[in-house]
Amino acid sequence: MKKTAHIILLTSFVFLISCNSIKTNKASIIDQKVDSVLNLMTLEEKIGQMVLYTSDWDVTGPTLKSGYMDDIRKGHCGNIFNAHTAAYVRKLQKIAVEESRLGIPLLFGYDVIHGHKTIFPISLGESASWDMEAIEKGARVAAIEAAASGINWTFAPMCDISVEPRWGRVSEGAGEDPFLGSKIAAARVRGFQGKDNNLADPLTILACVKHFAAYGAPQAGRDYNTVDMSKRVFLETYLPPYKAALDAGAMSVMTSFNELDGVPATGSRYLLSDLLRGELGFKGLVVTDYTSINEMVNHGVVANEAEAGLLAVKAGVDMDMQGEVYFKYLKKQVDDGLVDEKLIDEALRRVLKVKFLLGLFDDPYRYCNEVREKQLVYAPEHLEAALDVAKKSMVLLKNQDQVLPLKKGEKIAVIGELAASTRDLLGSWKAAGDWDFMKSTLDELKAYNGEANVIYAEGCKTIGEDRSGFAAAMAAAGRAQKIVLVIGENWEWSGEAASRTSIDIPGVQTELLEKLKTLNKPIVVVLMNGRPLDLTRENELADAMLETWYAGTMGGKAITQVLFGEYNPSGKLTMTFPRNLGQVPIFYYEKNTGRPIYLPNDKYKSKYIDSPNDPLFPFGFGLSYTTFEYSDITLSSTELTDNEGLTAQVTVKNTGKYDGEEVVQLYVRDLVGSVTRPVKELKGFEKVMIKAGESKEIKFKLTSDMLAFYRLDMTYGTEPGDYKLFIGGNSKDVKEKGFKLK
Ligand code: GLC
Repeated sequence: MKKTAHIILLTSFVFLISCNSIKTNKASIIDQKVDSVLNLMTLEEKIGQMVLYTSDWDVTGPTLKSGYMDDIRKGHCGNIFNAHTAAYVRKLQKIAVEESRLGIPLLFGYDVIHGHKTIFPISLGESASWDMEAIEKGARVAAIEAAASGINWTFAPMCDISVEPRWGRVSEGAGEDPFLGSKIAAARVRGFQGKDNNLADPLTILACVKHFAAYGAPQAGRDYNTVDMSKRVFLETYLPPYKAALDAGAMSVMTSFNELDGVPATGSRYLLSDLLRGELGFKGLVVTDYTSINEMVNHGVVANEAEAGLLAVKAGVDMDMQGEVYFKYLKKQVDDGLVDEKLIDEALRRVLKVKFLLGLFDDPYRYCNEVREKQLVYAPEHLEAALDVAKKSMVLLKNQDQVLPLKKGEKIAVIGELAASTRDLLGSWKAAGDWDFMKSTLDELKAYNGEANVIYAEGCKTIGEDRSGFAAAMAAAGRAQKIVLVIGENWEWSGEAASRTSIDIPGVQTELLEKLKTLNKPIVVVLMNGRPLDLTRENELADAMLETWYAGTMGGKAITQVLFGEYNPSGKLTMTFPRNLGQVPIFYYEKNTGRPIYLPNDKYKSKYIDSPNDPLFPFGFGLSYTTFEYSDITLSSTELTDNEGLTAQVTVKNTGKYDGEEVVQLYVRDLVGSVTRPVKELKGFEKVMIKAGESKEIKFKLTSDMLAFYRLDMTYGTEPGDYKLFIGGNSKDVKEKGFKLK
């Protein structure tokens, strides 16, 4: 304990000086504390603080290093990830604080992506709620449970825009749209770091903006593959969510595996220094992704790992995740004059500053309270929040003849391996989520509708060609009034390193659906999947289809409550669902082209000879158990100036018999620009509850800055001219109105 007392004593001594001699502000006090620690450190200890190793509790990448406890003891590793529970974190922190020379406390990072123990829907699912409060709440609960379990740093939010359903990591993101993605990224940072970014609060954790940058656009949808795009597309479409997360106060960034414009992100001075620290003014720490420094040798921009370390540290990387490159080579490179020790000090200051902000120097064990851990993990209000977000994330894709909601007491056949699964409900980044703790969808349906009214048959597995269960499924369905078929992908079929060359429902699940269809009974398809799928065939066969993603710890109960109408589904897709893979990439903000589909001729235009252009389900699409009717748009003016905004207003009427929430969406189109402009861009949305038979007026304020873009000369700004404005319940079925920007 003497060492910690030594450091605390020293830093408080600096504090006294600063209070007397210099105008005190929090930043300068912490900066002085950082320097007081830095001045005690050897070069080897400084580099040790730039090292991050995984514990052996969870492995999220290709390598695992043994002996990390000894590395901590020697001051060779200042940060650990994939370790949790208050007890285990305390054990490792004790080694750092009491057995290393200077006793500098460890950071503890973990992939708390959509929950820690109480797991929320996967991020793509949460995004479909379009409910920023709910999404922030999910991150807040995740932070509380993670902090109570010893963690002070989450590797989230993942802010990668993507239009690539073949890429398994779309499951971790917020879909295809930069405007919505930016709102969601900011909401998640607020949840993790607290509304006022007070990292000293023991129930907030450091957020980490990842994966910087443009990781969501791998060629052919193949994970880790090359990313190549125009600077305009990068700045206009892929950058905004990262920027929004930083503007919300996120204090760490993770570099991505991919190259961008020929330079691996982990070695990109443009990305990490010019853009991130320069233009965006980021002052926090930059950590690599798992061994992404080493991987620059494979990328072919360096000949060996020593050169990779040089490239990374000069580009602006402060911490090496699992690569052991900084530890192996940096000291000698400083001694040989290849790296200025000042560069090491700059990186070290950013690492130490975060540790001070988290209060770790005041109390290294502040996240290690086992009593608090027991009180907070799985707290009833956390489970309630997970249930709420899960229901709000579900998207009703079809409901022919109002097959849904089901009526309590009617006999239903529940079929499908996923119906009886709990593990799959947690998705691919389950963190410390524990599927023994929870109930399956089948259990919840039985609990709600009565054992006697629920007949189960597995039918078939989610993968494989085994049809031997079909007969039992047909028999079960034969004894029921309605069929609930739960199909999709199992949890391993999305997430990291899970790209697919098909986006069909795997195995023989659809074949089973075709068999069940011959019974001429209403069939409700419940989908569990981590990406947009090609549901063209399923959409023909099903009477109703409910997209539930992987709905988390309370997913079974949420699915039950939606199916039986306890909650009227309100989710809207945040990624386009194509008719077929051949249409990919397909997204709503496409360009008009010189030969748009609506031209009068039949041949010479931008179309397919074997498929329509439009998707099966467009961005922003989602049905309700009720129906909504939109009035025409009323504009406060048909002219917009830099000083005078305009208001666009619609009246939305609930014309059905259920109270329901509607996400009213505002899109804009710039008809003529110095460069081609998208046919639509989301510029606003509002999720409103409207009671059956009632109406609500929805107003959107439009200002000129909302119309800014990267013009022909790459300056960011607006251009006067004619615009269109669209309002509707999805990106396709909209009312429109013209206006001018003067
Ligand atoms: C993985 C992922 C990254 C994650 C990290 C630590 O490879 O790419 O998202 O945060 O390693 O688990």
